[in-house]
Amino acid sequence: MLFFLNFKSNKIARMLSNQRKKFSLPSGVTYLNGSYMGPLLKEVEKKGIEGIKRKRNPAALPPSDFFTGSEKLRQEFAKLVRVKEPNRIAIIPSVSYGLANVAANINLHSSQNIVVAAEQFPSNVYSWMQRCKEAGATLKEIEPPVELHHRGKIWNERLLDAIDKNTKLVALGNVHWADGTKFDLTAIRQRTREVGALLVIDGTQSVGALPFDVSKLQPDALVCAGYKWLLGPYSIGLAYYSEYFDAGTPIEQNWITRKNSEDFSRLVKYQEDYQPGALRYEVGERSNFILVPMMTAALQQIIAWKPENIQQYCKKISAKAINQLRESGYWVEDEKFRGHHLFGVRLPKEVDMEKIKLRLQQNKISVSVRGDAIRVSPNVYNSESDLAKLVKALKR
Ligand SMILES: Cc1ncc(COP(=O)(O)O)c(C=O)c1O
Repeated sequence: MLFFLNFKSNKIARMLSNQRKKFSLPSGVTYLNGSYMGPLLKEVEKKGIEGIKRKRNPAALPPSDFFTGSEKLRQEFAKLVRVKEPNRIAIIPSVSYGLANVAANINLHSSQNIVVAAEQFPSNVYSWMQRCKEAGATLKEIEPPVELHHRGKIWNERLLDAIDKNTKLVALGNVHWADGTKFDLTAIRQRTREVGALLVIDGTQSVGALPFDVSKLQPDALVCAGYKWLLGPYSIGLAYYSEYFDAGTPIEQNWITRKNSEDFSRLVKYQEDYQPGALRYEVGERSNFILVPMMTAALQQIIAWKPENIQQYCKKISAKAINQLRESGYWVEDEKFRGHHLFGVRLPKEVDMEKIKLRLQQNKISVSVRGDAIRVSPNVYNSESDLAKLVKALKR
């Protein structure tokens, strides 16, 4: 850890140091692709192996363990996104699942619309397409401007303008998954309140690396896949559902989400009622003895690092590279309208994307190409030299 004095606030601020030793990334690979998948922390790997081994002897697995691990996981996620009641958090297998629960519990009329950003990740589009089709409602997909100048600012303005008195729901990421464009959720929440629309956030590409405060923003739902910025395993995610969904109908009916499911001897005393809060929306077999402890350990590490420190770390290691790329004609969004952990690099006209892709591959630099942007997504296991390698490959 490195400490420095922040003169403005007169506080000792804590700057994260490189955390690569906590991961098992192979040497020789420049991994700038956390948006694709977060690498495994050694500690998380250990928890997974312990979880596998637990099934060697089911006699040592008491019924109470079906509840305690899940409860711990909900508590950690609640801490991370600042939710007071952990039972507002539901364990889900994927974003599509979490959003299907939202889609199944909104009353949509043909005169109404749902607002999304253009080219959003499909899991945060198909549910809305389907619901709009069923109701004869309109799905508004809001495009960014073609011009790059002030792209993020203008895209945000267009989103605000698109929300009208007929808007039932706005479904967005905090940042756009393909190029990190940041959406001003505070302004969007304000606008949704003015027109009485719901706000649903897909936090998959931000929560974990960018601070998110449910108690301040008060979205109606927040849904996150666990395997990217939350550094968890694949096939587990977490969702927050507000009181709006308290009396809703979950997309599946399973035993553990029902009242008194703790009492294994009376499970066939079938119950009308569910467990409190948002637990009705949890996936069957949510107690997963391998994935749940892995996800919990990953969240504990992120909470210890703090998302604001992760964001600052990414800013520090990428600042020089972004300046150099801009000087060479590449385009990166203004700082205010992008993430530091996730940003798109757009090529000068004369540069051929196919050649660049090949060069990145030859240099073992892992980034993603999404649309017309190279998506660069560093994290605490990266260093300034990783970004310098990227610059070298792009500039050559
Ligand atoms: C913004 C966003 N949401 C969700 C997902 C994953 O969705 P699902 O969990 O439904 O597979 C991704 C994967 O890339 C993503 O980028």
